[in-house]
Amino acid sequence: MANKATGRRPLVQACLDRRNWLFLPVVGVLVLGLLSMSGFWDCVKSDEGKCEVHAVPAAIDLPRWFNASCPLVYQRIHYDEMARGEARPYLMGERQRPGCVNCDKDELWSHFCQFRSHGPRCPPHDQQLLFDTLLDRAKVGAPGSRELLELTPCDLFPYIRGRTLWLVGDSMMQEFMRALQCFMYEFWDLETKPLDTLIADKGATEGLIGGWCVLLPEQSRICHVRSNMGDWLVTNLLPRFARLGALPSDIMILNFAVWINKAEELAANVMMWAEYYQRFRDSLPFTIWRDASIQHFDTPTGDYKCDGCVDAKPRADDTGFNCKAMDLVTLNPANELETTDPAMQVILEGGWRNRVTLPVMEKLGIPIVHTWNLSVPLWQYHHSFQEKDDCTHWCHPSGYQVWIAQMHQTLRKHRSAIPPPGNWPPQPGGS
Ligand SMILES: *[C@@H]1O[C@H](CO)[C@@H](O)[C@H](O)[C@H]1NC(C)=O
Ligand SMILES: *[C@@H]1O[C@H](CO)[C@@H](O)[C@H](O)[C@H]1NC(C)=O
Repeated sequence: MANKATGRRPLVQACLDRRNWLFLPVVGVLVLGLLSMSGFWDCVKSDEGKCEVHAVPAAIDLPRWFNASCPLVYQRIHYDEMARGEARPYLMGERQRPGCVNCDKDELWSHFCQFRSHGPRCPPHDQQLLFDTLLDRAKVGAPGSRELLELTPCDLFPYIRGRTLWLVGDSMMQEFMRALQCFMYEFWDLETKPLDTLIADKGATEGLIGGWCVLLPEQSRICHVRSNMGDWLVTNLLPRFARLGALPSDIMILNFAVWINKAEELAANVMMWAEYYQRFRDSLPFTIWRDASIQHFDTPTGDYKCDGCVDAKPRADDTGFNCKAMDLVTLNPANELETTDPAMQVILEGGWRNRVTLPVMEKLGIPIVHTWNLSVPLWQYHHSFQEKDDCTHWCHPSGYQVWIAQMHQTLRKHRSAIPPPGNWPPQPGGS
């Protein structure tokens, strides 16, 4: 009789039977296999052109609000097709497949978001160089690089559905906004909405130095608010944030750092933020910190200015700066930086700004979008910005597009901690 029971439920029985503990690794491998598959989905076109989501069985980390469906159809473009040179990544301006609408409009965003004209786009030979570099990273198996190449806007949309994704920070965040609204440019009407007109009736423009939104389907928005410094953020923006329409169910990607050139001043700004965050975190959007971005000026550590180092010098003819590669620092296939020069240790640690800020963010439990390591090799793309070369901002597509893939990874990794969207599904009887 014992044999019969064992025969009916061999796996369970084996687990219960102490003499069969050897089976546990088998079960473990099965469970791990399921877990590692979790969170993958694909958007496959049905006969009616609708997106059919092929999700793998519910994962443990999949929150109930997460809905992988997408209002548009974006066929995934696979690495092999790109490696054969037949397509580029959506992040690099490839047109929506199987069909697109905004891509054929003869206007600013349509041209810029395909990186053809109308803005700080990289020249074609640099776009080719970046594409080849990204393919090489995927070829050596660098973590996340194939995902970057194959990322579709429909991978990102589920995190934005029914809420506002706020991008708050300095001019680097402003360019990141442009990169993101470009990646999603088939989702909106190609008209940016200034934040101050959106909120004019709420009397909250005082103290606001600018920002805009793009409106996506299903009550979703992406908005940028300019805030260069931590103290301005804490004393001016965040106390008015609810009046701008920010909700605790929204997501905020935040950074300030590059405007500040002294470690002490940066530390003071970060402490102001940390105190504010600890007091008011429940009323703030779900906050994610983007690390400080790298500079490639012609100084020993690439900084424009820093405590005790030489300032970068502009070119004699006033056309900007010469940018330079991070000598002796290499990015290995595991996305780690390596050097043989002890003076470059600070670069391995994310530069002096991240040394100051990241430990505080980690202590506050704030998830981090890591962009530093992957940005170190991107020194050639710092040009054509506002008609003068600088070594902080980049042309598009380059660093900012790599950041989008990193942001997607961070959102995915932390999605079980992200609150459900406030505006979706629509409440019955709601406005
Ligand atoms: C996911 O969202 C789509 C579109 O809004 C909706 O039709 C579908 O019912 C949702 N699925 C779940 C499981 O909530
Ligand atoms: C960046 O490189 C450093 C130095 O090799 C490494 O310790 C760190 O883990 C890397 N960071 C990421 C996010 O990969």
